[in-house]
Amino acid sequence: MSSNRTFTMIKPDAVEKGHIGAILSKIDASGFRIVSIKMTQMSKRDAEMFYAVHQERPFFDDLVSFMSRGPIIAAILEKENAVDDFRTLIGATNPEEAAAGTLRKEFATSVGENAVHGSDSDENAALEGAFHFSAREIY
Ligand code: CMP
Repeated sequence: MSSNRTFTMIKPDAVEKGHIGAILSKIDASGFRIVSIKMTQMSKRDAEMFYAVHQERPFFDDLVSFMSRGPIIAAILEKENAVDDFRTLIGATNPEEAAAGTLRKEFATSVGENAVHGSDSDENAALEGAFHFSAREIY
């Protein structure tokens, strides 16, 4: 995956609250092109693998339970400077620290249940996209 792509998930909390359409609309209005998208549910094992980098963190078990408790929207997004621009759009991990107008300010409830994921580097964007999508699901 080239550096103009990032990977996102609309997390179970935001799906449960019916925010899929509103979040996708803001992503679209911010100039990102959706090149892959699906609704899916991660098993606990999937979530453990996806978040393996956090396995020593005290919040790891809660994170795995949360991310596997219901369906998510997984998507690959394309835009110039996609990783950084998308992290600006979603805002700080903790919604209390997220800037006005960001997705987490509007839709997240806590640092754990923070509505939207965005890759933190080009390398992780490629790995995370490949975790959820095969080559023929990327347009
Ligand atoms: P995300 O950026 O998608 O990937 C790592 C996730 O770990 C993060 O979102 C949060 O959902 C979660 N996380 C990070 N820090 C904490 C924390 N201090 N307590 C609980 N969950 C956290």
